[in-house]
Amino acid sequence: MVCRVMLRHKHKQYHLNGRCTSALVIVWACLAVSARCQAELPDCEGKKIFVLDVAIFAESAGLPLCSIETTFRVDPITNVPFLREDPQVKNAFLPQYLGQYSGPWHLAQAISGSQYVTTDIDAADIVYVYDYCYYTWWLAFVHSNGRVQREDATPGDHLLKGYQAIVQMPRWKRSEGADFVFYDPHPGFATGRAEMPIIDMMCNTFRHSMHIIAERSQRNVCQTYWTMADKLLIAPYVPGTSDVAKPLKGFMTKTAPLDKRKALLWFRTKCLPYIMEGKGRYVNGHRFCHHVSIALGKAGSDVDVSCTDKQLGGHPLPFRSIMDRMRNATFCLSMPGDSASTRRLSETIMAGCIPVFIGPPYATMPMAADVDYRAFSVFINISDYSGWLQDRMEWEIHPTIRPYHVLNPWTWLPEAKVDDLAITVSNASLVAGHLRFMDKKEVLHKLGRLDSERQKFSFQPFITGPFSAINIIMERMCTARLEPKR
Ligand SMILES: *[C@@H]1O[C@H](CO)[C@@H](O)[C@H](O)[C@H]1NC(C)=O
Ligand SMILES: *[C@@H]1O[C@H](CO)[C@@H](O)[C@H](O)[C@H]1NC(C)=O
Ligand SMILES: *[C@@H]1O[C@H](CO)[C@@H](O)[C@H](O)[C@H]1NC(C)=O
Repeated sequence: MVCRVMLRHKHKQYHLNGRCTSALVIVWACLAVSARCQAELPDCEGKKIFVLDVAIFAESAGLPLCSIETTFRVDPITNVPFLREDPQVKNAFLPQYLGQYSGPWHLAQAISGSQYVTTDIDAADIVYVYDYCYYTWWLAFVHSNGRVQREDATPGDHLLKGYQAIVQMPRWKRSEGADFVFYDPHPGFATGRAEMPIIDMMCNTFRHSMHIIAERSQRNVCQTYWTMADKLLIAPYVPGTSDVAKPLKGFMTKTAPLDKRKALLWFRTKCLPYIMEGKGRYVNGHRFCHHVSIALGKAGSDVDVSCTDKQLGGHPLPFRSIMDRMRNATFCLSMPGDSASTRRLSETIMAGCIPVFIGPPYATMPMAADVDYRAFSVFINISDYSGWLQDRMEWEIHPTIRPYHVLNPWTWLPEAKVDDLAITVSNASLVAGHLRFMDKKEVLHKLGRLDSERQKFSFQPFITGPFSAINIIMERMCTARLEPKR
């Protein structure tokens, strides 16, 4: 039997269709984010989306075949892809959809299984460029081989050929790509011979398209993105899981009540190296993390903040233990590392631990227009940042100094307006004290808001009743100004 159920979310109504024996079952199933529910996205009503798989050009453009099952493998420790034959993943690997860059795959699945899909590209309002396999192959190549320059063709060259084929399509020419959507789930575009041509295509050839990106610094790479904020969306990383058979278990696990949380504050990170090999650039995020870990390491027995590097006396923790510890803490730090975005934020929120954004520089806040960070997070502004940022911080990115590189911390400003809420402290040692004496009612309020927002960081290969990141991404695709250029 098929039944329809309506759910209300943010003053909008959602109709759920599903096979079920009673309405209650499907409401429960959708709330548990576990069952396959067909929800409608009001903003997508009447819109048709075509999934343009780059693989269709394989024959005409001479691309080798790419398979999401066999071309690359996801490392279970770091959740990033490596080439299939890499010793690191030879014996143990995760299914590709558990990799932190697998958002584009979830999106393609969700579109394809929805009522908004069309198989007629000419009838589509939106064309989603599905380059996931070649894109991830390239990332895997870079992870397995390092950032080397090579003369022979790399997977980056295959991706480039695919892009070159797209811009030859009549459908592309009709709008100069204005109704096309790209999803770049990694902040650095990768590297190699194809790097510059691909950046050039991303920034210039695709300048009218919508871009779903991992962090704000990508828009600074592309100067043409500066003026098109409504066609840029920062998406979160796919969170890790401690149960491969049930990737959403973390979201279904009830968060601990405040009085059961034994730790005040938790954070772990890799603090070394400070200098990018061969580049001679400081990784300010790492220096910042190290500084904060030293400052807070002695702040009390209920504060568990440290670096995981062996050289600094630390050690990495298994993922399950990280999740347990975050569930056991009231607050978890959210800090940038190699770049401004971090998968740990998705996991902190999944664990129901109040994120403490500390800066400058600040970690990326994905989907800032759709997630109520102000209600459930804490923001700390450290006025003496001279220990990790050597220049004076510029709070506005002036056009003449707009940075061009992902490692530039000057671009790592909060995405949400938080300066009216931010607690200003002179140094990092004072952070624990502020958190310890925060009004209990305020803490409980934040935990409540976090509980209702956390599923927005889950990724599912279909549209769900309560929101997942995929719903938000699809709604943004449907509401971005994608009309053809005149
Ligand atoms: C919770 O935190 C307390 C205090 O730090 C610790 O003793 C306990 O082992 C932690 N429990 C878990 C499950 O991590
Ligand atoms: C942090 O403080 C600086 C200097 O007072 C201020 O300009 C900036 O807006 C503050 N940033 C945040 C995120 O509150
Ligand atoms: C941090 O600031 C407080 C208050 O200004 C001061 O007492 C303390 O010595 C400072 N700590 C460090 C490590 O600078």
